[in-house]
Amino acid sequence: MPQTETLRLTPSPADLERAAGLLRAGELVAFPTETVYGLGADATNGTAVAAIYTAKGRPSFNPLIAHVPDAEAARAHVEWSDLAEQLAAAFWPGPLTLVLPLKPGHGISELTTAGLPTLGVRVPDQPTAQRLLRAVGRPVAAPSANPSGRISPTTADHVLAGLAGRIAAVLDDGPTEVGVESTILGLSDAPVLLRPGGVPAEAIEAVLGHPLPRRAGDAAINAPGQLRSHYAPAAPVRLNAEAPGPGELFLGFGTRDGDLNLSPGGDLAEAAAHLFGYLHRLDARGAPIAVAPIPETGLGAAINDRLRRAAAPRD
Ligand code: TXA
Ligand code: MG
Repeated sequence: MPQTETLRLTPSPADLERAAGLLRAGELVAFPTETVYGLGADATNGTAVAAIYTAKGRPSFNPLIAHVPDAEAARAHVEWSDLAEQLAAAFWPGPLTLVLPLKPGHGISELTTAGLPTLGVRVPDQPTAQRLLRAVGRPVAAPSANPSGRISPTTADHVLAGLAGRIAAVLDDGPTEVGVESTILGLSDAPVLLRPGGVPAEAIEAVLGHPLPRRAGDAAINAPGQLRSHYAPAAPVRLNAEAPGPGELFLGFGTRDGDLNLSPGGDLAEAAAHLFGYLHRLDARGAPIAVAPIPETGLGAAINDRLRRAAAPRD
């Protein structure tokens, strides 16, 4: 693909205007959200969205999340419901993606939805993302800003390490706070958890007032992009390790200390925020990685989901 020089922009008003102008002109701009950095394109412009796949080297079209500044902007594109309103009121802005039926005149490119009759929408809780989305004035389609199959980026340096020369700009606003991607909730039918993420399933269940069914195995690949081997470091990854084996680097948690420790105090939010960055750091050392057990509660479900993908047999 043609090489371009990738600008590193700041959150200054002038740079934000520049980033918004690039997006409106159909260019790719990586931007921070509270979860991970996204690789943004104008979701209404098929040519711009197609460029996301070229830049990421993604083999097939997966539906992408449309990022909007608030629920009102979301309602311009999807069929809203009382349940959507309740969940948006509880969790937006924040790391929750709602998958809802597209509404007539939605304006979203078919490449954003991969031809599905539904759209994943989300309102990021990150001030620079908020200002950017308001300045663009259009929904911004954005997968995580990493080459296909690699670890998600939580800093602008991660983005540049994977995509420099392939995208117009990255908006650098420091490390992301949550560190794992958004929770994806299917709402086109009865609510179903399509991907664990930054909002714990337990918190959604507390609002719904009933248990939330999880997507059934790999059969219901309604959420493609859920490739088994995803978020993968170059080196092999071994999970639930009590201790490192010979030649292995150890990613610790709590009292199980290692080369790096996701959270010495056993705090799952801290562990989520460190997860991808620490995998990037250990991966750079080129040795196999063993990971300490992480509890499956709260944000632990999202952390373990990403770790299982990192450890899965490579496709
Ligand atoms: O936190 C996040 O969600 C980050 C930041 C950048 O917002 N984005 C992200 O995007 O993780 P991506 O493309 O890496 O993952 C999006 C997931 C995919 O698994 C995709 O299949 C699912 O969302 N998805 C999107 N639209 C969908 C739809 N209409 N129906 C079912 N799944 C959908
Ligand atoms: Mg991704």
